[in-house]
Amino acid sequence: ALPQVFKTIKSYREWRRSLTNTVKIGFIPTMGALHQGHLTLFKKSLAENDHTVISIFVNPSQFAPTEDLDSYPRTFERDFALVSELNVDGKSVDAILYPSVDELYPSGIPLDVSKQTGAFVTVHGLSEQLEGTTRPNFFRGVATVVTKLFNITQPDIAYFGQKDVQQTIVLKRMVRDLLIPVEIKVEPIVREESGLALSSRNAYLSEELRARCAGIYAALKKGEDAYKAGKSRSEILDIVKLNLADEQFKIDYVSLADKETLLEVEDLSKGAVLSLAIYVTEGEKTTRLIDNIIL
Ligand code: PAJ
Repeated sequence: ALPQVFKTIKSYREWRRSLTNTVKIGFIPTMGALHQGHLTLFKKSLAENDHTVISIFVNPSQFAPTEDLDSYPRTFERDFALVSELNVDGKSVDAILYPSVDELYPSGIPLDVSKQTGAFVTVHGLSEQLEGTTRPNFFRGVATVVTKLFNITQPDIAYFGQKDVQQTIVLKRMVRDLLIPVEIKVEPIVREESGLALSSRNAYLSEELRARCAGIYAALKKGEDAYKAGKSRSEILDIVKLNLADEQFKIDYVSLADKETLLEVEDLSKGAVLSLAIYVTEGEKTTRLIDNIIL
């Protein structure tokens, strides 16, 4: 059967109440412009649950006024077709939650989210560093919208990609600290054959630049090799940065951080998250890409 599309919370809740309470529900929140990275999460949920619910919502509260909220790709027809084709063990996606901004933000949401009033969710200590440095309100927006989406969809398990590694660490801490009865599962990064991590924002890149961006993962792999060869923190970071030398790239950060605290680590004996963010520029257009390897 085709997935049911719910644009209102009320209609979704009616459907949710109609299910017996012994069924297991898997949930995957997305901002749409779906690609294999998203579809892999959907398939995992289909295999592991009785019902699978996804959401498509470009969340204004996680975008700064200078960011790409207006230009973020919105491709619902195509997304619906992709979701409709999925089938795992005879199961397909049951529901697509596709709400409006008014539906999810009944008190409204200012364009400048630093001026937001009312209730929101903040995970202190994990949200300020790395992505949080250039995007100070980003994780507050993510944690808040994911809480709203959990409150609506009421899943047993929610699936997230390692692509956004800091997001997974923030959300795991959120459900733990707020006693939210949802299990968070993290799935590996899906990449193009070139190594470039799939991202909805790759749509902003020309073919030529996209090919060049394969260098980002190649640089991370060099860092991983250096780690395996027993190199120090500073040697590993230098190797990654050296491999990122390209006139079209500008490094935002390259980090070796603790897997739980996301604080920079000197001692790598317990592994680390090697992560980076790069601005790639093409004429007037700049796109920010992130990637990581867990060591
Ligand atoms: P979005 O960027 O659409 O990503 C939705 C989910 O897909 C996230 O868990 C993300 O990590 C995962 N994903 C994206 N690219 C991936 C890839 N190449 N391999 C594996 N997984 C990948 O992340 C968000 O949306 C939003 O912040 C959201 C959680 C929906 C809150 O608004």
